Amino acid sequence: MNSKPSLDAVRDLDARCHLNTFGKRLPILAVAGDGCYLIDENGRRYLDLIGGIAVNVLGHGNIALAAALTDQVSHLIHCSNLVYNPWQSELARRLCQATGMDRVFFGNSGAEANEGAIKLARGYHVEQGRPRARVLSATDSFHGRTLATVTATGQPKYNQKFAPLPPGFSYLPFGDEAALTQAMDDDVACLILELIQGESGIHPLSRDYVALARRLCDQTGALLIIDEIQTGMGRTGHFTACQLYNVKPDIMTLAKGLGGGVPIGALLATEQAATGFVPGDHGSTFGGNPLACRAALTVLSEYERLGLVARAQEAGKRFCEALQPTVSTAGPLVEIRGAGLMLGLELASPTTAGGAAAVRDRLLAEDGILINSIGQTTLRLLPPLTISDAEIDLAARAIVGALQK
Ligand SMILES: Cc1ncc(COP(=O)(O)O)c(C=O)c1O
Repeated sequence: MNSKPSLDAVRDLDARCHLNTFGKRLPILAVAGDGCYLIDENGRRYLDLIGGIAVNVLGHGNIALAAALTDQVSHLIHCSNLVYNPWQSELARRLCQATGMDRVFFGNSGAEANEGAIKLARGYHVEQGRPRARVLSATDSFHGRTLATVTATGQPKYNQKFAPLPPGFSYLPFGDEAALTQAMDDDVACLILELIQGESGIHPLSRDYVALARRLCDQTGALLIIDEIQTGMGRTGHFTACQLYNVKPDIMTLAKGLGGGVPIGALLATEQAATGFVPGDHGSTFGGNPLACRAALTVLSEYERLGLVARAQEAGKRFCEALQPTVSTAGPLVEIRGAGLMLGLELASPTTAGGAAAVRDRLLAEDGILINSIGQTTLRLLPPLTISDAEIDLAARAIVGALQK
């Protein structure tokens, strides 16, 4: 780019040159970032409550991350998995320590981690001498866009068009214990769940449901996969939502915040579940490369230095306390869902304050605040875990104001 870019020129190029997957985007041309703020080409600052969809856990422009990446780029960016690299093994060690899992495989995204998780579960049963193919997931879940993960995603709008879909997948009504009990038998290879559904609008499973899922997996020999791609990395005020729910999965997936913006995903497994892969069963050219692993190692160090997991809990509490006065059966909000800094605000009706998209647009235009809307009635907040008290107070005041219009 030789000259200063303009929103109109970029929008025009986007319309002409991109596959039309994102439709109309928010009218912001992001060129820089500073802490919790995204900055456009004219220097306007937007308070970012989306955080790159739960990715920018350290905010934008974190100095330690920038320094580590600069240093890493000058040493070694990539070397392939044909050789060992010290950043990958150290990251694996630290993630096992943080999650209580035993082994790790690195990929580049959430979908890739979940794709690997489903393969690992089926591979496990083959290695056990009794192949099983069935994969159960929840309605309204979201697990990614590859063919297997979009099939596991329990939302027909995302997968029906791409039929024939891989066979063996079926869907359990979200949170329905009777349906879960009925579906679990010894043909099930795995059950994949988000403990708090993110993409569908922040819907937590009950503790009883999750405990039942663990028990039924133990009884039938099915593997429990917990998709922590959105809930993980301290988002809920615990390093993983599994810690919040006190459940130990057989397989766990992480991505989003793991690299603080550098693409990396992780598939973690217990020693037992890890037997599902033998050499040659799985791989990734870029997965676990030195640059991505160094980013994730730095993210973990910053978590420790700044106490970000505890901070997510405190910050979420502050947000909820500030927004609570707007919650009543009459609205404008009827409910705040979620944990830590993974929050869903439910409007009383699709016409409350003009609907979720109208509230989002108003916050952007009038207050310079970036927030995500889901469907007609839900607002989703996934800000950086570094968000300050002053930024929370400012955002909450603006949200309350926008809801009352
Ligand atoms: C719970 C969950 N799983 C999987 C994914 C897919 O991750 P990615 O977009 O990195 O492939 C997402 C993305 O939003 C997610 O929220």
